[in-house]
Amino acid sequence: MNQPESMQMEQSGSPAWWRRSVVYQVYIRSFADGNGDGTGDLAGLRARLDHLAELGIDAIWVNPWYPSPMADGGYDVVDHRAIHLDFGTLAEADALISETHERGMRFLIDVVPNHTSVEHPWFQAALAAGSGSPERQRYIFRAGRGPGGDEPPTNWQAVFGGSAWTRVDDGEWYLHIFDISQPDLNWQHPEVRDEFDSILRFWVDRDVDGFRVDVAHGMVKDRSFPDAPVDLLDDRGQRLPDGSHPHWDRDELHQLIRRWRAVLDEYDNRMMVAEANVHPDRLPLYLRPGEYHQSFNFDLLKAKWSADDFRSIIVGSAARAAAIGAVSTWVLSNHDIVRHATRYGLPPGIDYERWLLDGPHDVLDAEAGARRARAAVMVTLALPGSTYIYQGDELGLPEVWDLPVEVLEDPTWERSKHTVKGRDGCRVPIPWAKHGSSFGFGEGPSWLPQPPIFGDLSVEAQKGDPASTLNLYRSAIRLRGDLFVADEELDMLDLGVDILAFRRGSGATVVVNMGSTPLPADDLPPGEIVLSSGPTIGTKLPPDAAVWLAPES
Ligand code: GLC
Repeated sequence: MNQPESMQMEQSGSPAWWRRSVVYQVYIRSFADGNGDGTGDLAGLRARLDHLAELGIDAIWVNPWYPSPMADGGYDVVDHRAIHLDFGTLAEADALISETHERGMRFLIDVVPNHTSVEHPWFQAALAAGSGSPERQRYIFRAGRGPGGDEPPTNWQAVFGGSAWTRVDDGEWYLHIFDISQPDLNWQHPEVRDEFDSILRFWVDRDVDGFRVDVAHGMVKDRSFPDAPVDLLDDRGQRLPDGSHPHWDRDELHQLIRRWRAVLDEYDNRMMVAEANVHPDRLPLYLRPGEYHQSFNFDLLKAKWSADDFRSIIVGSAARAAAIGAVSTWVLSNHDIVRHATRYGLPPGIDYERWLLDGPHDVLDAEAGARRARAAVMVTLALPGSTYIYQGDELGLPEVWDLPVEVLEDPTWERSKHTVKGRDGCRVPIPWAKHGSSFGFGEGPSWLPQPPIFGDLSVEAQKGDPASTLNLYRSAIRLRGDLFVADEELDMLDLGVDILAFRRGSGATVVVNMGSTPLPADDLPPGEIVLSSGPTIGTKLPPDAAVWLAPES
């Protein structure tokens, strides 16, 4: 097999750290509030680092922490070389990075190259300088169409709803593929390219171990500005098989990736992972030698609770990655999607966004969702490659689907004209204690209200309970080191249509019952059960349960 860059080895000769790591995603404003203002911050994260060390994770990825008006949860950046005042200071960031390293974990940050905030000094300068000015060249300003230029330059739609163009006072339009407050940068401009090289160096010099690159499939636009085919104005436009969309996944953007990779390669052992929501056949392009080390694989995020779905995604993703000497990443939840403990409790095929808004909410089987979420992480932690855990998954947190609309902050809510509730329900601050006005998140109430059930799901409530989800995660991450990370072999086993089963190179096997009838214990592969997702297995593997079996010695 062609394995570029010798399997991406470290100098020690073992596979590079990020090929087998468990990465924990910290949504900073909702992780822990150290100063009592209701918003998570660096002080809170520093105080809770031991929780992450005890969990056994290898790396932390922190969502954007930069100065920002927070129109899109911090993905609207004003200054890429500083920390938001609500989160802390650069000195605290330095301390956090080194305290993370002292505990043997790596530290990744988010970089947002597709757009800035409207409050970024460059955009403010562009507005002030006017049409035709060099300042406007760093963004994408165009004249409108139709009489008086009153129509947007193209039919392109913003991800959060409405036209992707907004008109400024002098009549020109600027492009924003996301929110109106997030103008797209012009990556053809040398100053934009130089600026991001310098931003990457700034943070690597402060000892971050790498970057999660936001909207890695955006950035380059067709400069002839054609309309997009009308049936591809929605999400499907991002996932075309051929790079033909005017502003998603265009071939030219790979030159930019190579440039960033060259910057990272000036240092030892740094990595970058792409958020590229593209067609599965296009994903390997981002992982070619000299490009990204890793790319999120979002296919499991979209999978139903079905052995068929999981199997085909696992086999396909692993094969596509192996063909280019890469390994896949496995993601069940993040800050952009309904939490998987809730997704798996909903009828298959339901549209989550509509369900959040309109229900019917009594179709949710929260207990089944919780059981399945526990089983699902025993799949992702046992697969070759790296696994990303979203904060609160280790507590089995569900989506807070009943947030009152008055508290919603996701721009999607307004931009969709109140037809899409948005992503706040997975961003509710996480509970640390059984009681208290924000369940130990901070001293006072949190920026989004938490439901009463969060007390029972808190770290405090779970840590002493051997059967808790928190302890399942701790055990699974510890055992993963013994059973699953020494090699990248993966063999699927056939134990029936509703059973997902595979064996790894160590001989350890994973079996998940995704059907509705129990699997007799005699049908399990040989081996000793070393971990199970349910309280007791008895003589049968019940529906919605998973086991890990170690080879008999
Ligand atoms: C990514 C982020 C999302 C953000 C968007 C725009 O998809 O994960 O939270 O809204 O980019 O920056």
